[in-house]
Parts: sequence; C-alpha cells; structure tokens
Amino acid sequence: MPEAVAAPQRTRYHRRIRPPAAPSVRPLTPADHAAWIGLRQALWLGSDATTLAAEAGTLLTDPQRFGALRYAVLLAVDGERPTGFVEVSLRDDLPAFAGRTVGYVEGVYVAPPHRRRGLGQALIEAAAGWARAQGAAELASDILPDNPASLDFHRRVGFAVVGESESGGRPQILLVRHAP
Ligand SMILES: CC(C)(COP(=O)(O)OP(=O)(O)OC[C@H]1O[C@@H](n2cnc3c(N)ncnc32)[C@H](O)[C@@H]1OP(=O)(O)O)[C@@H](O)C(=O)NCCC(=O)NCCS
Repeated sequence: MPEAVAAPQRTRYHRRIRPPAAPSVRPLTPADHAAWIGLRQALWLGSDATTLAAEAGTLLTDPQRFGALRYAVLLAVDGERPTGFVEVSLRDDLPAFAGRTVGYVEGVYVAPPHRRRGLGQALIEAAAGWARAQGAAELASDILPDNPASLDFHRRVGFAVVGESESGGRPQILLVRHAP
C-alpha cells in the first residue's frame, strides 16, 4: 500500500517578504527639507547667502537672486532614506558658454557609507535629464583644482575639462558634458 503523503501545511499567517527597494533618484519634496539640509551641511559648511536661502526654503523659489534662471534639488534615496543629492541650476550668464543656456551642477554629494555604488553617477544623469527638460543641451560643472577624486569622478560620468572659472574668489576647473 502506498504511503500516505502528508498534505502541505497551511500556515495561518503569510508574511510577504519584499526585497529592499533599489536606490533611486527623485526630486526633493517638502518632507525632505531637514534631510537635505543635513546632507548639504556635510558638503558645505558655512553660512553664505545660498546656505541661508536653502535653510529658509527660498533657494528653489528665488533662484534669480543667485544668478540662475531655475534651480532644482534631486535626492538619492535608499528606500525612503536620503543618501545624497545634486543641486543643479539653469544658467545663461557663463562667459565660457557664450550666452548659451546650460545646466550647471552646483554641487553633488553622496554620504560616505553609500559611495562607489553608482549613486553619484545616477545623480549626474538625473541632473542632465533635468537640464535637457529645461531646454539645455549641455551640463556644466566646476571643481576645485585640489580635488583629484572629484576630477576622476567627473571624467568617469562623461565630463571633459573646458577651461577654468572662478567661484568665491577661488580658481576652479570648468567641465562640460552633453545633457542627453
Ligand atoms: C564625488 C562623489 C559624489 C561620487 O559619488 P559616488 O556615489 O561614490 O560615485 P559613483 O559610485 O557613481 O562613481 C562612479 C565612478 O566615478 C569614479 N569615482 C568615484 N569616486 C571616486 C574617488 N573617490 N576617486 C576616484 N574615482 C572616483 C570611479 O570611476 C567610479 O566608478 P567605480 O566605482 O566603478 O570605479 C562622492 O565621492 C562625494 O560625495 N564626494 C564628496 C563631495 C565632492 O567632492 N563632490 C564633488 C564636487 S561638488
């Protein structure tokens, strides 16, 4: 006589196990304000006009005050936890671009535990997409000459050096890439 085969046990409660959400990039929302300011302070310590405007919530609503036509903040998030950001503006006042309207990376930052996983690149691609959506064909950036890691990163994500610029009285290396 064949042995009885036990019926599969039915569990009363089923727990759905979801895989962790992949890191992604999305625009800043009002709920992200404190997290963005915290990440920002990790990149830029100080109390210049841009910092004060960011903290007061007017950086995005009054970009003309800082010479920009528009300004956006895009966040890298791990699940819902912000882990990095890029600030990108739209500018038409840069002599190196002869009056063309270009996107401009004002700053890009990824928190140390989340680096070297492609988030910086994802932020730059998102910034390029934003610039393109504003009608710009180029995305520019600048870096301090004494930041070789940032230069390597910029080259790796598609930028090429086009010259020098100046920011806050300090010389900078000026870079550009396509905004696809
Ligand atoms: C620069 C920065 C945003 C890169 O973020 P990230 O998430 O680590 O970047 P990615 O993982 O997308 O790196 C893409 C590629 O860039 C290059 N790269 C990134 N960081 C680098 C470093 N520290 N040194 C050399 N190359 C680097 C690598 O080629 C890397 O690819 P790989 O990891 O396959 O070798 C991050 O290191 C950071 O926030 N630094 C401090 C702030 C800063 O300097 N910002 C730039 C000027 S505003």
